[in-house]
Amino acid sequence: MNNLVESECFVPWMETIAVYPGFFDPITNGHVDIILRGLRLFDKIVVAVLKNPKKEALFSTKDRVAMIQEIFAHQPDLKVKAFDGLLVEFVKRHNAKIVIRGLRAVSDFEYEFQMALMNRQLWAEAETVFLAPDVRYSYLSASLVREIASLGGDVSGFVDPRVLQRLHQKLGRQ
Ligand code: PNS
Repeated sequence: MNNLVESECFVPWMETIAVYPGFFDPITNGHVDIILRGLRLFDKIVVAVLKNPKKEALFSTKDRVAMIQEIFAHQPDLKVKAFDGLLVEFVKRHNAKIVIRGLRAVSDFEYEFQMALMNRQLWAEAETVFLAPDVRYSYLSASLVREIASLGGDVSGFVDPRVLQRLHQKLGRQ
């Protein structure tokens, strides 16, 4: 192999690390679906759970992290970390360049596109990859899950059973 061809070859093994950020209050089956899709594309995923005291959350940061860790307990290629401050700084600290975001519908696009371009403005190497969830989850959101659960509705089809149990505990239902 001559030098030119050799230098154009891919590095045989370089891990691609992607960050999947969000509030995850709580993690839904839609988030799980995006993570599973991401794991097929990237070597490692770091789920970045926003700790934001300004935004009112049903679950504490510790609980939101713990629920994701429980669901992916047997997935060695996934880590869950709480973060505050700028997302791009978190991404850099974890030796990643890719940010994963789920796009459920066209209505998500404007906000997501703005964030992707702003993150790139903050750090030119940041690339956002949008993944479409399974169509079953295209109308699902954590805020709807919280609302339906708090009004006594059945959200068992939208969250992992361990999340459902914590929701029931939190809302004083057994
Ligand atoms: O689950 P969400 O609310 O859609 O997640 C939003 C999140 C956490 C991705 C976004 O709020 C974020 O990145 N916050 C960190 C602060 C930051 O970097 N802001 C500038 C983004 S352009």
